[in-house]
Amino acid sequence: MRLGDQRTLGPLLLALFTAGCLQDAHLVVDYNYDVRPILADNCYACHGPDPESREAELSLHTEAGLYAPLRNDTTRRVIVPGNPSASELVRRITHKRPQERMPPPETRHTLTESEIQTLLSWVAQGAKWKPHWSLITPACRSCPESVSENGCVMKSTILSWCDWSERDLNPREKLTGVH
Ligand code: HEC
Repeated sequence: MRLGDQRTLGPLLLALFTAGCLQDAHLVVDYNYDVRPILADNCYACHGPDPESREAELSLHTEAGLYAPLRNDTTRRVIVPGNPSASELVRRITHKRPQERMPPPETRHTLTESEIQTLLSWVAQGAKWKPHWSLITPACRSCPESVSENGCVMKSTILSWCDWSERDLNPREKLTGVH
């Protein structure tokens, strides 16, 4: 299908909407496609897989680490699913004071408004963690029924989702093609 072909786009949009897919595409934040890349780019340097460079004993690359109690105040947690205001991660990425703000200003990494919004929405939606996509059986082959499991929740356009379902690409290749 050609991009910009209005005649094919109309029925396609209708079909996706009927499948409930279009709505999910705008609302659901997906850990693998939306959240993990933000954490990897901005946080893993100090809270990632390398124990040597890990700060505050905080691992944001593991499921356990994301929901763990804070090291200095075990009554609070890094993420409280469904409750952004109780989540230390949200407090840190939205903090006004540079001393508290994450990532620290000296890293010259700053989260954009939309990245902050993505993390906030993900926490508000229940902060569902997923294993790395390479460990999940692709569900998009059987689109559209199972599309909201992966294809539709990624920040891709509807057209690129279709493209993906037609061609046999893995999500990583697809993402690099899209962004
Ligand atoms: C350059 C290193 C660095 C980067 C990058 C970084 N942090 Fe931190 N982070 C720290 C240090 C150092 C501390 C401990 C000092 C403090 O609490 O401010 C910390 C503490 C935290 C804490 C509090 C942990 C606790 O137990 O109290 C959270 C939550 C946090 N970081 C989240 C993030 C998030 C989310 C990102 C990415 C958006 C990020 N950090 C990026 C260095 C970093």
